[in-house]
Amino acid sequence: MSELNKIALQILSNGKGILAADESTATMTKRLDSVKVHSDENNRLLFRETLFSSLSMKECIGGVILYDETIRQKTSDGKTIPELINSGGSLTGIKVDTGAKTLAGSKEEKITEGLDGLRERLKDYYKLGARFTKWRGVYSISDIYPSKLSISVNAHALARYAALVQEAGMVPIIEPEVLMDGTHSSTDCLNKTSEVIRKCYEELELNNVDLSGTILKPNMILPGTNSNEKISSKDIAELTIECLKKSVPSSVPGIAFLSGGQTEIEATANLNQINIRNDTNFIMTYSYGRALQQSALKFWSKDVNNIIGTQEIFNHRAKMCSLAAQGKWSENFENSK
Ligand code: G3H
Repeated sequence: MSELNKIALQILSNGKGILAADESTATMTKRLDSVKVHSDENNRLLFRETLFSSLSMKECIGGVILYDETIRQKTSDGKTIPELINSGGSLTGIKVDTGAKTLAGSKEEKITEGLDGLRERLKDYYKLGARFTKWRGVYSISDIYPSKLSISVNAHALARYAALVQEAGMVPIIEPEVLMDGTHSSTDCLNKTSEVIRKCYEELELNNVDLSGTILKPNMILPGTNSNEKISSKDIAELTIECLKKSVPSSVPGIAFLSGGQTEIEATANLNQINIRNDTNFIMTYSYGRALQQSALKFWSKDVNNIIGTQEIFNHRAKMCSLAAQGKWSENFENSK
């Protein structure tokens, strides 16, 4: 077993998943604005430190993805944020792309940037304590999108990123996110997501990436947010497993889904059904941002000094996700706070 494979398994095994707390300052400001909290460095740190020192970190969170600002911050008692995260037995991750920019040649689509100078930045992040990384490619579905161009260039960037990350001794999370926005059907989502993921693995293999030392972070297979299609959690799970079975090489150790705008309960229920039906060798778990933090953020915004209360809300959500990652969740647990 390679070192990178061990790291990936440490993050994902035993009902653990990933807390995606890597919102850029602009995105975090939107989140804080939505609950009427001023977005400054201290408030961003206070909320995140509150989550990272919660009890559920030990049992439910194998890794935390940070943004550049956070990995350089210190807690109120002087620890670095990676030290705080490690003290709960969890590993520190870092988002290393520099965002999705307009794609020349297909102006309605995006290409994720950040390869320039990445080798040097990775050395710095390793020294700061990071052991895994994230890069997000983003695709939308319509009659004409995602285009062959966007599928190809984003897969190329993800693969070059992954090769550099492994060279630096860290595990790359490969995140090709096919967005929920739109009127498309679940079948469209299945077909497009499968095409996107397959292209990523074609490029990853070409770039000699050791797949056993990577984690895939995909979207689940869902109809578009503005589609009239009604679909059950069971169907979502079946389509999602079908997609992954036909697109992901078996040497990949685990898959950690993004929540992508699903509510906390939807993201939990769908993950649970996926695990009830998981007949693959992939670990299937969570790498949620909003679906782990939303309720905690809302509660915290009413009194930013209520650390214990906020942690209780976060602990509950993390526990629910962890049960879902083992196919053991049921709605009854939601009421047993
Ligand atoms: O890149 C996306 C985030 O890491 C996951 O966030 O679960 O809110 O979609 P989300």
